[in-house]
Amino acid sequence: MQAAEFKRRRRQLMGMMGPGSVAILPTARETIRNRDVHHPFRPDSDFFYLTGFAEPEAVLVLIPGRRHGEYILFCREKDPAKELWDGYRAGLEGAVEIHGADDAFPITDLDDILPGLLEERERVYFAMGSDPAFDRRVSDWVSQVRSRARAGVHGPIEFLALDHYLHDMRLYKSRAEIAVMRRAAKTSAAAHRELMRSSEPGMHEYQLASLFAHRCQMAGAAHLAYPSIVGGGNNACVLHYVDNAAPLDDGDLVLIDAGCEVDCYASDITRTFPVNGRFSTPQRQLYQLVLDAQLAAIDKVRVGNHWNDPHEAAVRVLTRGLLKLGLLRGTLAKALKAKSYQRFFMHRTGHWLGMDVHDVGDYKIDGHWRELEPGMVLTVEPGLYIPRGVKGVAKKWQGIGIRIEDDVLVTNGDPDVLSRDVPKTVEQIEAVMNDGR
Ligand code: GLY
Ligand code: MN
Ligand code: MN
Repeated sequence: MQAAEFKRRRRQLMGMMGPGSVAILPTARETIRNRDVHHPFRPDSDFFYLTGFAEPEAVLVLIPGRRHGEYILFCREKDPAKELWDGYRAGLEGAVEIHGADDAFPITDLDDILPGLLEERERVYFAMGSDPAFDRRVSDWVSQVRSRARAGVHGPIEFLALDHYLHDMRLYKSRAEIAVMRRAAKTSAAAHRELMRSSEPGMHEYQLASLFAHRCQMAGAAHLAYPSIVGGGNNACVLHYVDNAAPLDDGDLVLIDAGCEVDCYASDITRTFPVNGRFSTPQRQLYQLVLDAQLAAIDKVRVGNHWNDPHEAAVRVLTRGLLKLGLLRGTLAKALKAKSYQRFFMHRTGHWLGMDVHDVGDYKIDGHWRELEPGMVLTVEPGLYIPRGVKGVAKKWQGIGIRIEDDVLVTNGDPDVLSRDVPKTVEQIEAVMNDGR
């Protein structure tokens, strides 16, 4: 992503914040995994969206209209001894020269400098509630400024959430963002194809998970967007299954929900296929039903339709199919009204996708589903989950969990399926899996 892109975003946001305001955005905290070991650091998405600065211990301050500079970055100073142990730091000079900050200060001076930056600012934009320790610091700074009222200093009088502006901006992807998201989806798609080719009875779920990560990393995506879900047979019915510890049995399906991250943008793809390369009849019947629902939902990802149209389309197809297969009883109208599909499909058909896998952005505006507009990216991921032992369901359907998930860009024309490179029809999957066997 070019520096100009980050600059454009800051300018747009400051235009919406207006004069007399200040925004304070800390990046994510480093978190301890266990003694002396940290989880891999990932910058906060809002912070990174506005800075492109990936180091920990940094705070962005935006002050529209400030004469001595509107974009201020607090960050770690250069320190040869620490850099020897922990790696490169941009330092204050890098913050200005590389990252385009108007001014940069040491993160250790935050408490001394920040109150002065709040003087004569009426409104503070700050995401209260995500880090209680940081919340306390912000309110201390504001109190300090207010306590100087008798000296004629005016402090902020209003706290506001930035989400309304910032998350709306993040919902509409620019050309540069779409290019990155396409790369993430293509990289994940190639890894999913590889998993289809490599699956064999007797392998373990974690081996497919590891192969997915390996393929993505070999292609240049260092991180996954979320922990991979690899569930064989009945495990596919656990929606957030991450144990990935079981062997993959001959005759079972395996569900793989996995996606890499590229430059802090996520992909989120699910495919379900037979471990041994051939669908059984009940597996094929259920799979085809989920696929029909998914295709009907994708076809609703069009400008002018609203957020819930794809979900409604999926629910209709699934309900009709479940009635036909005898998994639900009654008339279509009654089953839809009673939402009886929820017994087998208990999540929604998708979510916004972007820097966060469950990305930001409102789904409703003034109580109404939001209309789809070009540049929005969402997932389409219907499923059916029929766990072993479920009452009143014929044995042949049990132990089957299926989800098919793609990443879809809203355009002025047809839906643009960013993850289209992974096979998804029964015939395509069987062909890929049995090629050369
Ligand atoms: N991988 C998380 C989700 O599909 O929402
Ligand atoms: Mn998803
Ligand atoms: Mn997913």
